[in-house]
Amino acid sequence: MLVDHLGRKIEYLRISVTDRCNFKCIYCFTHQNWKWLPHKEILRFEEIEKIATVFAKLGGKRIRLTGGEPLLRRNIEFLVQKLSQIAGITDLSLTTNGFFLENLGESLKKAGLKRINISLDTLNKEKFEKLTGVSAFEKVLKGIDIALELGFNPVKINTVVIRGFNDDEILEIAKLTLEKPVEVRFIEFMPIGKNNLWDEKHVVTVKEIKKILENFSKLIPESSFGGGPAKVFKWKDAKGKIGLISPVSEHFCHKCNRLRITADGRLRPCLFSDNEINLKPILRENRGTLEEAFFLALKIKPVKHNLNFTLKPMRAIGG
Ligand code: 5AD
Ligand code: SF4
Repeated sequence: MLVDHLGRKIEYLRISVTDRCNFKCIYCFTHQNWKWLPHKEILRFEEIEKIATVFAKLGGKRIRLTGGEPLLRRNIEFLVQKLSQIAGITDLSLTTNGFFLENLGESLKKAGLKRINISLDTLNKEKFEKLTGVSAFEKVLKGIDIALELGFNPVKINTVVIRGFNDDEILEIAKLTLEKPVEVRFIEFMPIGKNNLWDEKHVVTVKEIKKILENFSKLIPESSFGGGPAKVFKWKDAKGKIGLISPVSEHFCHKCNRLRITADGRLRPCLFSDNEINLKPILRENRGTLEEAFFLALKIKPVKHNLNFTLKPMRAIGG
């Protein structure tokens, strides 16, 4: 079992399969001079499979594929299928911007994907275009419905709240849970990457969000699947749930159960620390073992995050 120096049980691995994205979300495309990782630097499917297998052998149970946009990776369903067959992995999920779900949802489901998180920060078509740089609002909404129709469970919607941008839509976005069995999760805006947009003033705290939601109708505490950082609630008679995630106003590092793999094969113990272990010499030059790398990650996993800006943008780390 993977237990770190603080006794935190690590059973969840988030793997970024690409740093590329077809969207340019204003809070993510922050590095003016960011160069895409060269193709050869990106982990191959066999390498990801190897890492996941060792993780499972060491007691890992859950894997999430992220990016960038993971569905940009060609034949991603092959990887999903391979990972879903690894003994010990009981939960396989994916975070996406939703754009390609219309095309790929069905094959992902067939390949063994269990659940999906889709990013959606606004319900306003023009704002969506301004935020993502892409005219794809309807397509993403359709992607959400398709994910529900295909029976992914749960389907979660990630909303990053930015003051002055979408804080006026909190209630409206949460109201999606009245009609659809989705879990809408509001995430405090984090200072990730060289982010000129980030400022404390732009952070809407979970406390404020909760107040807005409670003003509409009382929030009933709910159990949360997977023990993640979200505090989960529900409105009476709603079909879906509401999750609140507070990385800025209230850290949850003492409960952190995860490690990350960046698209270029670095094992990253904390989202907020650029201290990483390069797995490529292990994978490509036979220098050391993946087991050793995981144990080293447990040793260097920070006690808690400090909110200094990371060097890399979210899409390179794996959200
Ligand atoms: N703060 C909070 N959430 C972020 N995401 C990307 N950048 C940030 C940030 N600076 C979110 C995306 C996606 C998830 C992987 O991370 O919206 O839903
Ligand atoms: Fe792409 Fe997600 Fe970054 Fe938006 S937040 S640009 S969808 S990786």
